[in-house]
Amino acid sequence: MALQHDTEKVSGEAFNEVGPLGPPFPIDARVNDAGHLEIGGCDVLDVAKQFGTPSYIYAAGDLRYRARAAVKAFHDAEAKFGDGTADEPGVLFASKSFPCTAAYRLMAAEGIYCDVASGGELHLALKGGFSPERILMHGNNKTDAELEQAIAAGVGYIVIDSFDEIDRLNKLMPSDGPRTLVRVAPGIKPSTHAYIQTGQVDSKFGIPLSQVEQAIQKAPNFVGLHCHLGSQFFEVEIFKAAVEVLAGFEVDCKVVNVGGGFGIPYLEHEHPPAIDSYAEQITSAVRETFGFGAKIMVEPGRWLVGNAGVTAYTVGTVKEIPGVRRYVAVDGGMSDNIRPMLYEAEYTGVIADRAAVQADRDVRVVGMHCESGDVILPEVMLHEPNVGDTLVVPATGAYGHAMASNYNGVLRPPVVFCERGEARVVVRRETHDDLSARDVE
Ligand code: LLP
Repeated sequence: MALQHDTEKVSGEAFNEVGPLGPPFPIDARVNDAGHLEIGGCDVLDVAKQFGTPSYIYAAGDLRYRARAAVKAFHDAEAKFGDGTADEPGVLFASKSFPCTAAYRLMAAEGIYCDVASGGELHLALKGGFSPERILMHGNNKTDAELEQAIAAGVGYIVIDSFDEIDRLNKLMPSDGPRTLVRVAPGIKPSTHAYIQTGQVDSKFGIPLSQVEQAIQKAPNFVGLHCHLGSQFFEVEIFKAAVEVLAGFEVDCKVVNVGGGFGIPYLEHEHPPAIDSYAEQITSAVRETFGFGAKIMVEPGRWLVGNAGVTAYTVGTVKEIPGVRRYVAVDGGMSDNIRPMLYEAEYTGVIADRAAVQADRDVRVVGMHCESGDVILPEVMLHEPNVGDTLVVPATGAYGHAMASNYNGVLRPPVVFCERGEARVVVRRETHDDLSARDVE
């Protein structure tokens, strides 16, 4: 691809949807006077030189702006459709998308709540400064140890996912323990990859509709209902359908949580709905069906962090297969971004120092792993890639760092936060010693 040359820096106000480089890139990204890609005021070539590649590079300002936008959208919608009696809406950071202490810290400072899906994420959320009452604990198979950890920490909410969990909680839960929500499998399937659909009937998540009332009766400290339809979909309307399903139960709900899944742009031509449309759709539906008292909660993960981050790689090999195609191999791959292989997720790319030059070469970008499926960009237009070039793949801020592995003994990349021209590493690159650090002689 080729990016528009734009020397105007974007202010926090302008952020709501798209920055000057188009949908998948951070808002605080531009092409600088040297023609290089700049993220958070830092020239990507300098960042790559200083911290090496591959690296996850985030425009830290984007994380902040997005957190603020989401909170504002839901507060505005509440002011529009509510009557002022409900508790403030809770926008939760689904922290599985980017479980990095610095991200937890940043989100906590923005008045966001936090959703954790394991004892490990709970540990990180507390370490990142979330006050326990703003944390909500998920999991379809929470262990006794995790439930005890959540109760001891004093988390605000536990989302119940099964009758076995209810039995465990009835043994472990003090009466002044965390409030609980019952997760419902609403029987709604969004348009997204099958692996990330969760709201359908045939799902490991949630309680089947016919058993929800029984679950509510048995659940200790019950305060409300939850559902999560899936991830990375653009259908705002199905949240209304989900709210209507939840409203079908004869129960006093103090909390209605409709999960996350708000889609983001991965490619240049993708324009997902604005956060305000999610907020208005969800809030109006809850107010119409549940009345004015219930607190509304949502759990976006990807929406808050996905477009704030990019991955920088170095091109190491260019291989021409005559009459077939050109392979461009970079120094990462399925160990730092498993999404193309797992969900056939599509991305785009740009050569960092020729970001505004017309892309003229159709290539396949592959990683360095011992698998033919290690393809990051199956077909992408780049400006003549050469050995030594820095290739940037945008929109890797969610579920990149989160799902990274050491496959092939690869060292997991650092996380670098860039803001106002300063780059700081918030997670260092692994070392070879890290690879053997858990060995027991
Ligand atoms: N709430 C619950 C209960 C969830 O299970 C999830 C995601 C979220 C919220 C946040 O969803 P988001 O807003 O980020 O779409 N690894 C996959 C995504 C799996 C998401 C699992 N649950 C991917 O890379 O696309």
